[in-house]
Amino acid sequence: MTAARLILVLVAAALLISPSVARPAAGTASREPQVAVRGVLLAGNAAGAETQGSPDLATLRRIKASISNWEEAATANNVTGKSLPLPQRWDDDQPCAGTWTGVHCDKQGRVSELILVCVEPSKLLQPALPVPQQPCFTGLLTNDYAALPALSKLDTYTSNLYGTLPAQWADAGVFSGLTFLRLSFNNASGAVPPEWGRPGAFPALKSLLLNNNNLSGELPPEWGNNGSFPSLELLFLGDNKFKGPLPASWGAAGAFPRLELLSVISNNLSGSLPPEWAAPGAFPDLQDLVLMANRFNGSLPSEWGRQGAWQNLTGPRQSILRITAS
Ligand SMILES: *[C@@H]1O[C@H](CO)[C@@H](O)[C@H](O)[C@H]1NC(C)=O
Ligand SMILES: *[C@@H]1O[C@H](CO)[C@@H](O)[C@H](O)[C@H]1NC(C)=O
Ligand SMILES: *[C@@H]1O[C@H](CO)[C@@H](O)[C@H](O)[C@H]1NC(C)=O
Ligand SMILES: *[C@@H]1O[C@H](CO)[C@@H](O)[C@H](O)[C@H]1NC(C)=O
Ligand SMILES: *[C@@H]1O[C@H](CO)[C@@H](O)[C@H](O)[C@H]1NC(C)=O
Ligand SMILES: *[C@@H]1O[C@H](CO)[C@@H](O)[C@H](O)[C@H]1NC(C)=O
Ligand SMILES: *[C@@H]1O[C@H](CO)[C@@H](O)[C@H](O)[C@H]1NC(C)=O
Repeated sequence: MTAARLILVLVAAALLISPSVARPAAGTASREPQVAVRGVLLAGNAAGAETQGSPDLATLRRIKASISNWEEAATANNVTGKSLPLPQRWDDDQPCAGTWTGVHCDKQGRVSELILVCVEPSKLLQPALPVPQQPCFTGLLTNDYAALPALSKLDTYTSNLYGTLPAQWADAGVFSGLTFLRLSFNNASGAVPPEWGRPGAFPALKSLLLNNNNLSGELPPEWGNNGSFPSLELLFLGDNKFKGPLPASWGAAGAFPRLELLSVISNNLSGSLPPEWAAPGAFPDLQDLVLMANRFNGSLPSEWGRQGAWQNLTGPRQSILRITAS
């Protein structure tokens, strides 16, 4: 291609200086170098587009279109709260130029981080929990979020996305690089997909934060498959409407090999605590287990007192093992 362009320039130059170019052709000749120059400039733009444009442009536009109050929410929020002079509205075709708030790209121009938050995460630590005053991004949780193959971080903390968690997010290869998925404080409803427990679906995921939504149904035993969440360290399921028992399978050897914190606080879970959760090999790295504000009954399984069980449950985070019986 470079050779072709070089030839074009040379041909144009030859036309320009050629004494044999007759009058009718002279006009053509005088235009040719401009074409050539324009060609070079276009080539320069194309090279720039590799770092500022993105093959994911169409997907981002679909995500934007899926949010019904985009203009209102983008005005009220700085999307990430990043200090830009104006909220960027994702209007141009250069999502990787650094001006699309909440969008970060890798060197290939693929979207690696997508952050649509309405309240600064630091405010999470403040006593009064955020009830966002400004309009938040209201839209359906669509499959489009899964059409970003280089995504490492998806954060919609305190946004207002609704609908069920798409089972397709666990399709092969879709989220192979995802390390952080936070949908906390949204309006997701329905059951969490058993499909998300398919081994290989989330090989890199370290944080799965689904707390403070409107999720319901039972916790899926499939999430305890050997290989389901090989990298997962944090699993927040609290403040939803889950019911039914803690799945015994989650304590199987090979399930949650890296999990450090599991919280199901403030749901409607019931039944007795599964002895399997303290079996040899269960939750080898668990440091915090937060079960409070549910409806468990029965007695504390004697297995939970087994020597060697819960060996890490004295981690750096204030170790919590609180259970409210009904
Ligand atoms: C948006 O950013 C501007 C400039 O940094 C700041 O003054 C404003 O408070 C921010 N708004 C919100 C809602 O975070
Ligand atoms: C949450 O989503 C449901 C649809 O699933 C909708 O009916 C409801 O109004 C939403 N709630 C808020 C606070 O947006
Ligand atoms: C939660 O979801 C149910 C349907 O499962 C819906 O009827 C209800 O309005 C939702 N709650 C909120 C606060 O959106
Ligand atoms: C889990 O799967 C791995 C790899 O397939 C295997 O080596 C290991 O033995 C399995 N663990 C259990 C407890 O089944
Ligand atoms: C909790 O589940 C019980 C049935 O186990 C049901 O009767 C009750 O209404 C549920 N509570 C809430 C707040 O959903
Ligand atoms: C959990 O305990 C085991 C055995 O003491 C140790 O090898 C491992 O590093 C601990 N994990 C964490 C996350 O501290
Ligand atoms: C615990 O609750 C379940 C229903 O959720 C009931 O079938 C069972 O008998 C209860 N067990 C005890 C020990 O109260």
